Amino acid sequence: MAKTTPRVFSGIQPSGTLHLGNYLGALKQWVPLQETHDCIFSIVDLHAITVPYEPKDLQQRILDVALDYLAAGLDPKKATLFVQSHVPEHAELAWSLNTITPLGELERMTQYKEKSYQHASTSAGILTYPVLMAADILLYGTQIVPVGEDQQQHVELTRIIARKFNSRFGQTFIEAKTQLTEAKRVMSLADPLKKMSKSLGPKHYIALTDDEKTIREKVAKAVTASGGQTTGEMDPGVKNLLVLLKEFGTSAQVKKYEAAYADGSIRYSDLKHDLADALVKGLAPFQERRAKLAKDPKKVWKILHDGAKKARPIAQQTMQDVKQVMGLA
Ligand code: TYM
Repeated sequence: MAKTTPRVFSGIQPSGTLHLGNYLGALKQWVPLQETHDCIFSIVDLHAITVPYEPKDLQQRILDVALDYLAAGLDPKKATLFVQSHVPEHAELAWSLNTITPLGELERMTQYKEKSYQHASTSAGILTYPVLMAADILLYGTQIVPVGEDQQQHVELTRIIARKFNSRFGQTFIEAKTQLTEAKRVMSLADPLKKMSKSLGPKHYIALTDDEKTIREKVAKAVTASGGQTTGEMDPGVKNLLVLLKEFGTSAQVKKYEAAYADGSIRYSDLKHDLADALVKGLAPFQERRAKLAKDPKKVWKILHDGAKKARPIAQQTMQDVKQVMGLA
């Protein structure tokens, strides 16, 4: 049974609380997938250490993402949940893949260009980061990678790496496909021309753990008319709020505001009020489950260790095959 069920792999970095972009682009679509697919979801700590970070906070951040996974509805009985560094084959395969990945492909990655611009001293890890991501995906014979749009380029590169490896050493890897959601690129509230991300600062995102007051304040301050719209398209800030309203409110609400936008009668204060209500109501059950789970961190760590025990044999088998074809065994 398990063999014929398509394999899904995805991961999130433990770099702070998750926001609505992480949820709507990735985590939310994982929950139904665990019913129909063979799912493996990782907390990718080795990716998170490629930028400056505080070592003493990392274990808590890993636990925080695990709480988010579980509170969002991931079920360890249905999906394998584990920490990337608990399965050392990720780093091992990444090295082998590094030796066949063209440098030019890495240098043209959008995320690399953005991050190397943001951080004064760029590590080699920032550049080879997508190779580790390819290792994550390829270790498990993954067919489907459910992610947000910003990761699509990395999944494409994974396909290139798989093809290169197969043509050099013989058929070893499957080419995985990206799976996107409708809300594949949630934008920043304060600067809707940029994607919602933690690195921009708190006013740009809504965390899944933000309390009611914070949510209402952030939504109230969201940029609507950003100006410069000459194409007749909807203002990106308004469009983004409607994307969120579609996910957390009702389609009737969205239709109402779309019509009001079209005839110029829209009142942004009403839209923001309805959206804040929908977000507060929509996130409440998640936050309640999360608070309960947070009381028993030992149980959560056990889930992650059990997950690594399930993931590791699959990774070990792949690594054995890789060593064989590369002449390393
Ligand atoms: P990360 O940790 O930056 O983000 C986790 C997931 O959230 C999605 N996402 C968004 N989706 C929509 N709108 C946004 N504003 C937004 N911001 C983030 C991301 O696309 C991602 O799906 N390299 C990956 C983690 C990773 C991975 C993997 C993913 C490592 N190995 C293997 C899939 C398969 C990353 O940094 O995601």
